[in-house]
Amino acid sequence: MTILVTGGAGYIGSHTVLYLKEQGEDVIVLDNLQKGHKKAVLGVPLYEGDLRDEKLLDNIFSKHTIDAVIHFAANSLVGESVEKPLEYYDNNVLGSYQLVKSMVKNNVKKIVFSSTAATYGEPTSIPIQESDPTLPTNPYGETKLAIEKMLRWSNDAYGLKSVCLRYFNAAGADPQGRIGEDHTPESHLIPIVLQAALGQREHVSIFGDDYQTEDGSCIRDYIHVLDLAQAHYLALKKLEETNESGVYNLGNEKGFSVKEVIETCRTVTQKEIKAVIGPRRAGDPAVLIASSEKAKNELGWNPQYPDLETIVTHAWNWHVNHPSGYQSKQYN
Ligand code: UFG
Repeated sequence: MTILVTGGAGYIGSHTVLYLKEQGEDVIVLDNLQKGHKKAVLGVPLYEGDLRDEKLLDNIFSKHTIDAVIHFAANSLVGESVEKPLEYYDNNVLGSYQLVKSMVKNNVKKIVFSSTAATYGEPTSIPIQESDPTLPTNPYGETKLAIEKMLRWSNDAYGLKSVCLRYFNAAGADPQGRIGEDHTPESHLIPIVLQAALGQREHVSIFGDDYQTEDGSCIRDYIHVLDLAQAHYLALKKLEETNESGVYNLGNEKGFSVKEVIETCRTVTQKEIKAVIGPRRAGDPAVLIASSEKAKNELGWNPQYPDLETIVTHAWNWHVNHPSGYQSKQYN
């Protein structure tokens, strides 16, 4: 298969590209490198450009015989999306619209889409099932849900088959330590705690300890980035075999509080890591835990690294060896 991966220089995209290559697939990456890193794209062609560039997309589709697209390229910060909703509609919705339009024009009929648990908003029950209500509480989730809907209607109208994967909290890094997670500025919990372990931050702020949870801090379902990569590959296989569209949650079906994550990081790194209780962060639901039964049953998904300590160990291995992320000397 020849697969076009949009956003293949980003965190989840680059790990998926590596995984696909290791399965023997041909991969082409399209990334505008606004957030992604050239150095995260290992051994596959990279087109540097934007999804909203119609000519570039048509050029890629006419130059290569693309069998399927995996679509990661997006802005993906919840807080930022509240501050700058139009940027999210522009990049995420307009970019995806342009991609789908070019796919239809160029007769490419399969897409795996990077969606999110943020499409559910405040959950009505735990664990969250795919059939639960989708009422996003921020523009990021809204734009991802709008794209899911665009794909559903494009299935009916143009026969474009899609699998939408709703990730919970992606974490970890390549177990071999070749690539990892590097955002500027960093806002995700595990890399922030590991930066504190490296002495790059004085402390970690726990965003609220007055939630209705056992220790008062928020509970999330952390899933290894390579297990997400495996799911994308299986989703493509399913599209090839059944030609049926679908929506799947991807999580470990187990929740950890912010305090538990910090404690796990202390165990793995053997560092003290100072934590300070801060105010709640706007828009954070108390508990998000996936039911991933559907992905396991229908895609044959079988997470290889479900243990939080393993997830943190892989992340730590990358951070400790690349303290400046992709600016570290190993990449120069
Ligand atoms: N947190 C802290 N301190 C920090 C950073 C985070 O206490 O310095 C807490 C948050 O409040 C939250 C938890 O740690 O309770 C995890 O926060 P992250 O920012 O790592 O992740 P989110 O759960 O906010 O968001 C992630 C993805 C989004 C996606 C969402 C879906 O980053 O893209 O999951 O649930 F939309």
